[in-house]
Amino acid sequence: MPSYPDLKGKVALVTGAGRLRGLGAAIALRLAEEGCRVVLHDVAPDAAARAGVPLGDEMAAVKAAVTDLGVDCATVTADLRVEDEVRGMVDQAVGAFGQLDILVNNAGIGFLVGAVTEMPVADWDAVMGVNLRGAFLAMKYAGAAMIERGQGGRIVSIASQAAKSGISLMSAYSASKHGLIGLTRSAAIEFGRHGVTVNAICPNHVPTDLGDWQRETLSRRRGVDMTTYWQRLRDRVPLGRPGAVADTANACAFLCSDQASYITGEAMNVSGGEEYH
Ligand SMILES: NC(=O)c1ccc[n+]([C@@H]2O[C@H](COP(=O)([O-])OP(=O)(O)OC[C@H]3O[C@@H](n4cnc5c(N)ncnc54)[C@H](O)[C@@H]3O)[C@@H](O)[C@H]2O)c1
Repeated sequence: MPSYPDLKGKVALVTGAGRLRGLGAAIALRLAEEGCRVVLHDVAPDAAARAGVPLGDEMAAVKAAVTDLGVDCATVTADLRVEDEVRGMVDQAVGAFGQLDILVNNAGIGFLVGAVTEMPVADWDAVMGVNLRGAFLAMKYAGAAMIERGQGGRIVSIASQAAKSGISLMSAYSASKHGLIGLTRSAAIEFGRHGVTVNAICPNHVPTDLGDWQRETLSRRRGVDMTTYWQRLRDRVPLGRPGAVADTANACAFLCSDQASYITGEAMNVSGGEEYH
């Protein structure tokens, strides 16, 4: 039983949705449950290898899970750092079903970590290139398509708790996610008169390939074993558990629905109460 009947038949492009355990796949499936037609995006495996992104090719399995729900699904690949590829991604998404109602800017990288004084500028640029430049480019072309069609739309970007607070060894990631909130707030003002809302979601501690890697790597770098890490998390998070992909996917479905039609420019925490500003 769908929670948001108005989403039935809408077309959603979800970036970075080619990993079975990822937030993108969970969001795509949640929107499909509401009857959205879904365009799954990810970087092509060869480009991922060139960029050093440890990516398996699981997009076909995600697509099968979406179509099992009885909705149409298309796939597209693009390196979000490359403007022509992002323009092509949006053109293909619009072409797939003749319209684009929802963009979920989910793709991101967070595996290049290090102290500010040690971080190679290439790592800084790589993180900014996907997390901020890529989100900007997707918003630029998807927003233009929504405005041109004149039927409004929804843009939701998956930021992070790192968009609200600094995290040691994660300066590039945190800066990119803080930047994503600035982009969200500015675009919300520009797109408001076109009926396009622009919001962000700030999750934390979600078990995905990236999330697991970050937790294990940062704990090791800080000399904290995983038992201590989880104990500290339970002490810090009022709701006492890590985030689940479903928590973010549910928030995203709500923000995409008519029930969120008066909400724009927000950066919604989905953090079990750990982050509250
Ligand atoms: N997992 C967490 O704990 C957590 C917490 C807060 C925010 N986030 C954010 O959620 C989003 C999804 O993360 P996830 O944990 O599901 O990780 P993930 O690694 O499963 O998903 C990220 C996706 O982005 C894609 N991507 C990377 N570089 C790309 C490029 N150049 N062009 C196009 N796509 C590219 C990857 O291929 C991957 O499919 C990210 O933006 C991440 O920063 C995750």
